[in-house]
Amino acid sequence: MMAAFILSALPAAPPSPGPCDIYASAGTPCVAAHSMTRSLFANYSGPLYLVQRSSDLASDVVVVKEGLAAVASQDAFCAGTNCTVTRIFDQTERGNHLNRAPWGGASKHSERGVNAARHKLSVGGRTVYGAYFEGGMGYRCDSTWGVATGNEPETMYMVTAGRHYNGGCCFDYGNAEIDALDHGKGTMEAIYWGDSKGWSRGAGDGPWVMADIENGLWAGKDKVEASNTPITGAEFVTAMVKGGSNGFALLGGDATRSDGLKKLYEGPRPPKYQPMKKQGAIILGIGGDSSDWAVGTFYEGVVTAGYASDATDKAVHANIVAAGYGR
Ligand SMILES: *[C@@H]1O[C@H](CO)[C@@H](O)[C@H](O)[C@H]1NC(C)=O
Ligand SMILES: *[C@@H]1O[C@H](CO)[C@@H](O)[C@H](O)[C@H]1NC(C)=O
Repeated sequence: MMAAFILSALPAAPPSPGPCDIYASAGTPCVAAHSMTRSLFANYSGPLYLVQRSSDLASDVVVVKEGLAAVASQDAFCAGTNCTVTRIFDQTERGNHLNRAPWGGASKHSERGVNAARHKLSVGGRTVYGAYFEGGMGYRCDSTWGVATGNEPETMYMVTAGRHYNGGCCFDYGNAEIDALDHGKGTMEAIYWGDSKGWSRGAGDGPWVMADIENGLWAGKDKVEASNTPITGAEFVTAMVKGGSNGFALLGGDATRSDGLKKLYEGPRPPKYQPMKKQGAIILGIGGDSSDWAVGTFYEGVVTAGYASDATDKAVHANIVAAGYGR
């Protein structure tokens, strides 16, 4: 069943399509695509991220070869010194690159970049690096092109580490304020991963996939959303948020299992969040106002235009599984 479904959902032409090819053929195209590990379009062979070394502040770009990050140049460039990631490139043609986050309303200082060599892993048979956030670290793009604003629909996913999280605010990836200040309910819409119980929560003890929709991480429409079960024991997690014009959905599961993705919630937003007032910046590793007390790991993620179908969610998750995280 699963194999037949995947074959019929993927476009025939490109040899190994990426998640953004799947979203494009489904009519909900990526408007931003960021990855430390691999190309997210079959036809992408450009830069993935930029590292800067502490010894002389020189920079080096890590590119894609055969679809995966080619990190030999990074290892040579950073030998004997420390490198931080200063930019994660947008693989779409929209230039929505993530740079180290500047001053924000909550943090009152600029964010540090992650240590580029802190977290090594295997993906698809190649050694690559993930972005390992240890607190006080974050990225953002305040001036974007094509990202949802107001009440426009969008879909986001990220692949994150299942066992590296905390309850601090906020390990997020997605849509946020354009000036790093808190503009109140509905002014952001990002994926959250962790076990914060400060606003809303799912069943059990977490960690959960929630949506940061500003002044609140929400596991559903209620303070305690029983359908949103914790995802425990997975080394790699697919986390998705779909923001509709009248409601939202949360999905998540083990990123190495084809039967892993579960719908955790789909329905109305909590009271006073409709209509949304999205501003269209993109954040990573921090809250919309640059709250920077969370830890977490980022491997890849995208933001699309439009509300993806259930079939598209499944095809994207299957594509992530096929990429071979941990193998
Ligand atoms: C790459 O593929 C995407 C969709 O799969 C398409 O929209 C885009 O135009 C392609 N880019 C190039 C440079 O061919
Ligand atoms: C690299 O960073 C570590 C931890 O901050 C520090 O102890 C070490 O001295 C640094 N090494 C170099 C060569 O800068």
